[in-house]
Amino acid sequence: MDSQYNQFIDLLRRRYSCRNYSQRQIPHDMLMQVLEAARLAPSACNRQPWRFVVVTDEAVRAKMLVRSRECFLNAPAVIVACGDHSSAWHRTADNKDHTDVDLSIAVEHICLAATTLGLGTCWVCSFDTAATREAINMPDGWEPVALIPIGYPAEGDQAPEKQRKSADEIIRWEKF
Ligand SMILES: Cc1cc2nc3c(=O)[nH]c(=O)nc-3n(C[C@H](O)[C@H](O)[C@H](O)COP(=O)(O)O)c2cc1C
Repeated sequence: MDSQYNQFIDLLRRRYSCRNYSQRQIPHDMLMQVLEAARLAPSACNRQPWRFVVVTDEAVRAKMLVRSRECFLNAPAVIVACGDHSSAWHRTADNKDHTDVDLSIAVEHICLAATTLGLGTCWVCSFDTAATREAINMPDGWEPVALIPIGYPAEGDQAPEKQRKSADEIIRWEKF
């Protein structure tokens, strides 16, 4: 039997940026399973400065994705990962706002959980933030950090080979 580590690495390899979706609807329970993974994410000082808005309405999705790749319009739902700067932890030493760090972890939990359920996702940060805020009635103080189109991958869509730097390039021991 595969070790938990091997299963985990396999999951990381199977998660890919899906840009080719089937329009098949996602069962509500499945979306809730995916969102549970976000709820369990760690966050600085456990502030959980987030809200996840699931948008299925076609016109609203189109409004949010107006400046993004057209392929994302096919996904039957888009999760808007929203960050609350006023409740996020700010580091004492330099006041660094950790909203983006916290939201990034939760978004990746979503993407990985979706992969285990046979769903495709893609991180989308190239989007119209003003249009998105308006589309979902986002109040001041909040920021749409990322959009996550989610849906079943179109038939035949496959994870491409990972293009990554080698371990030698990115790891140093003891000193930078
Ligand atoms: C923070 C972040 C923002 C991204 N924004 C976009 C985006 O706006 N549009 C897009 O098509 N892909 C976007 N991506 C996907 C990356 O291009 C992709 O993760 C990278 O090429 C590695 O491929 P993989 O996800 O298939 O492993 C984003 C990824 C991250 C982590």
